[in-house]
Amino acid sequence: MSSRIFNFSAGPAMLPTAVMEKAQQEFLDYRGMGASVIEISHRCKEFDQIVDRCDELIRELSGLPSNYQMLYVHGGARMQFSAIPMNLLPRSPSNKAIYFETGNFAKLARKEAEKFGNIKIAASSETTNFDRIPEVSVADVDQDAAYVHMTSNNTIYGTRWQQFPDTGNVPLVADMTSEIFSRVIDYSQFGAVYAGFQKNLGPSGVALVMMREDLIGNAMPHTPTLLDYKVYMDNHSMANTINTFAMYMLMLMLEWKKEQGGIAALEKINEQKAKILYEVIDHSDFYLGSAQPASRSVMTVTFNLANNDLAGKFLTEALENGLYALKGHRAVGGIRASIYNAMPLVGVQTLADFMKEFERVNG
Ligand SMILES: Cc1ncc(COP(=O)(O)O)c(C=O)c1O
Repeated sequence: MSSRIFNFSAGPAMLPTAVMEKAQQEFLDYRGMGASVIEISHRCKEFDQIVDRCDELIRELSGLPSNYQMLYVHGGARMQFSAIPMNLLPRSPSNKAIYFETGNFAKLARKEAEKFGNIKIAASSETTNFDRIPEVSVADVDQDAAYVHMTSNNTIYGTRWQQFPDTGNVPLVADMTSEIFSRVIDYSQFGAVYAGFQKNLGPSGVALVMMREDLIGNAMPHTPTLLDYKVYMDNHSMANTINTFAMYMLMLMLEWKKEQGGIAALEKINEQKAKILYEVIDHSDFYLGSAQPASRSVMTVTFNLANNDLAGKFLTEALENGLYALKGHRAVGGIRASIYNAMPLVGVQTLADFMKEFERVNG
């Protein structure tokens, strides 16, 4: 595995080498069946065991309360931008939902919801190019809304909600795609949480939706069958053919998280990794952090070079040093290091050393 680079891709992102090796080892013959996990029926008992194991591990790792369902939904995170309003808006007599706009994905979610109801933006940080999480309070939340939507980690801008807002009696719904299971969270604060698999859970194309049971079963009458969360709940997410390979990889990813000591242990390492990079940025005039310090993400570290003309050289030389996919999103420019659970400490240390050396030579 010596040819593996340190992969800072925002997503699909690197997965742990141990997980990739396990998948490789059993790819042709899944646990003595003589067939690959992608060649067996999603209705057979061996595959059922995979989904059951995912449920069990999610509950155990996250402490998800028993009145929350785990649903594995097609279409990744953005499909939930449609499914959430279609399933939840009928709860509001005024067909209303509240959105906090903290980045591009938050905005896409809000725009999609506008197709279905009366959407209000209660807080936004767009005027400062989403470099912070806005202050919000329960007074910003109309209590006749069906739900409040937020993006907990802003993948492009490198910000995250350090704490979650009080929304009174209105259920809080969070897109946690770029930080799911990277820190300990009390899920009872939320009506629903969802995340595309492709960063901390496995391959792309599927989303984990963890939803309070009493919120399920209210979908608009014209909701497509495969966007109705009740259909997922009633069929153990297998009304039709689930993405079997993604579920198998999810199981391996969850087992790996457990082997690492669980989410509290991962959170500790994640904080250590982020600190290493923020310290380099904060001890230098050569690098400029993009996010306001109080809003900084632990998963996504974004920065610019004070001399932007050097950004291309930085990226070229980083790649020559085995540091891949550090180019910032075009909305922010500069550099973005996505350091999800699978990024080892040594990868972050190698990047920090490279940054210091690049500054020494070019500063
Ligand atoms: C916070 C957030 N939401 C939504 C998405 C879109 O996910 P998908 O491509 O699975 O629809 C992403 C992808 O990076 C993301 O980071």
